[in-house]
Formats: sequence, structure tokens, C-alpha cells
Amino acid sequence: MAAKISYNRENYRKIRAQFEEKPLLARAEAEARRGELWEKVPGVREIDLKLSDTGLKLFAAAEKGKDGLDGRIAALKKENAELRNRRAGLLREAGYPEDYSDVRYECSRCGDTGFDGNEMCQCMKKALALAGYESSGIAGLMREQSFDNFSLGYYDGEDRKNAEFIFCNMKNYAENFLPAKADNVLLMGGTGLGKTHLSTAAAKVIIDHGYDVVYDTAQNIFSDFENERFRRRYDEDEDLTSRYFDCDLLIIDDLGTELTSSFTVSSLYNIINTRENRRKPTMISTNLDRVELRRRYADRITSRIFGEFFTLCFTGRDIRSKKLEE
Ligand SMILES: Nc1ncnc2c1ncn2[C@@H]1O[C@H](COP(=O)(O)OP(=O)(O)OP(=O)(O)O)[C@@H](O)[C@H]1O
Ligand SMILES: [Mg+2]
Ligand SMILES: [Zn+2]
Repeated sequence: MAAKISYNRENYRKIRAQFEEKPLLARAEAEARRGELWEKVPGVREIDLKLSDTGLKLFAAAEKGKDGLDGRIAALKKENAELRNRRAGLLREAGYPEDYSDVRYECSRCGDTGFDGNEMCQCMKKALALAGYESSGIAGLMREQSFDNFSLGYYDGEDRKNAEFIFCNMKNYAENFLPAKADNVLLMGGTGLGKTHLSTAAAKVIIDHGYDVVYDTAQNIFSDFENERFRRRYDEDEDLTSRYFDCDLLIIDDLGTELTSSFTVSSLYNIINTRENRRKPTMISTNLDRVELRRRYADRITSRIFGEFFTLCFTGRDIRSKKLEE
């Protein structure tokens, strides 16, 4: 399980650091609450000090030899239970819950360490997914666009069969995603037919499975390439584009809405080619048809897109405007 997962490295570092701190913080907070009790509730401090001696007392009891050891341990246990009872009583009278100074971990399963034995705990996986939604760029879209709220009711007749085919393929793709095995995907079709909807839905599932996904529009992606080219001269460290090459799945939305230039075309070629060499899939969605794609992009791009991308063609009537009429 662990080997095939490749969380966004930066997120992983950040979340790991958070989880290293979390249990320490929980314990420090518990200590602070204990301090408050010592100050406000007379008698608690003495009891706590006695209780904290338990380990030493057990040790001393053992040192006296095996004879009567069981009895000595039983006596200690009894003493301990009495101390705890008295402490609980004092707290109750002062209006505190009995467990006021217990350590309160957010996750009782892993004690906020993020690991349950050698396995990553669900709570850390969740934190990584949340960070992944943010870093992928789908956080805003994800709330409205999922497989669950994708409805076939917006398509009629043949379009509906087609949409069902696309839906099943995208869902399958997302659920079985493995970077080295997954296809490149081209989502084609007119405006408002669900291309962005299904690609964000897929992105969420793939992030939930622990993969590093980057989603953005072609416009934004190319503008990062342009900014980087410009800034390079001043700041060698500036790195705006490596995530487009490194992520497990790159989703380029709205290809064709950018102002096409030889620079954007060569950036696109660079992205597709490098990712293919690294065996990392790319998903592209576009309003353009094949003729238009050929016209706008170089042959070496379109021959790749048409030859090596699994193509899904959306059909139907603009759902965006249908929804507005509802
Ligand atoms: N099958 C569907 N069920 C429910 N909502 C849908 C469906 N298809 C699209 N929508 C909604 O309609 C709106 C437009 O869809 P979407 O943004 O996915 O279209 P698109 O194909 O990406 O269009 P464009 O080419 O203009 O980017 C969105 O709000 C989306 O959530
Ligand atoms: Mg779209
Ligand atoms: Zn946990």
C-alpha cells in the first residue's frame, strides 16, 4: 500500500511536521490544565504528586522480594484507586470534569502521531487529502462538482447514453488510478456539458487515494510558464512550473481559451512530452474540435493527443444554461 502512494511532497513534509508537534501540544495543554487545577483546587497537587510516585513505589515493592509481593502490589493498587477517587471528588466539588487534566488527543486511535503502528492513520490521510485539495487547485470547484451530484437527467436520448459511457469511464479511471498505468485522457465537447465537473470529480477521488494531482486552466498554466521565463533572469530559484511535470496527474482545463503563441505551443509540447517520458498521465479538456486543435497546435502535439490520449466526446445541450432556467 505505502509504496504506490506518492503524496505531494511538500504537503507530506508539512503534515508530518504538524503531526510531530500535535501530541506534544496535546500533552502541554494537559499539563497547563493540571497547573490550573493545582492552583485552584486545594489538595489536588498533593494527590498528583503521590500518584506520580506510583512507579517508584512499585519498584520498591518488587525490590523487597517475591514474598508477599502480590499483597504489596494489591495494597498499592488500592491506595492508588483511593487517591483517584478523592481527586475526582475534589474536582467535582470545584465544578471541574473528572478528566479535566487528561491528555486530549484529537485522534484517540493514533494519539495524534499520525501512525497506528506502521500504518498511516486515517486522520493523517484525511489531513493529506485536505492539503491535496488546496494544492491541486480543485478546492473551490470540488464542493459543487462530484460524481455523486452528476446527473444523467440533463442529457437526452443518444446524448444520455454517451454521457453515461463517459461517466462510467471517468469513475473507473479515478477509482483505479495508478500513475504508471493510467491513460492520458482528452475530454472534448461544447460548453457546459460537464467536462470540468467530471474532471474535478475524478481529481477528488484520486487525491483521496493519496496521489498528487494538479488542476488548472490552460491559461493559468501557460502564464506560469511565461512568468517563469521572465523571472528566471532575476531569480534563479523561482520555480513555478515543476509541479506541472512532477504531479501524478495533471489536469489542463479549457485548452484553447488561452492566447495561443509559439511559446504556449512549445510549453504544451514540453508538458505532454516530459510527462509521457516520466510515465505520468495528463488529462486535457477542450471546447475545440479536432480540426481546430490541428490548426492551433503543432503536429507533434496533435499527433500525440490524437494517437495517445483516450478520448471522450461530450454531447448535448449546455447544462450551465439549463441550470439557470431551473
Ligand atoms: N451531468 C451534470 N449533472 C449536474 N451538473 C452538471 C452536469 N454537467 C454539468 N453540470 C454543471 O453545469 C455547469 C457547467 O458544467 P462544466 O463546467 O463541467 O462544463 P464544461 O464542459 O467544463 O464547459 P466549458 O467548456 O464551458 O468549460 C457546472 O456548474 C456543472 O457543475
Ligand atoms: Mg470547463
Ligand atoms: Zn489518527
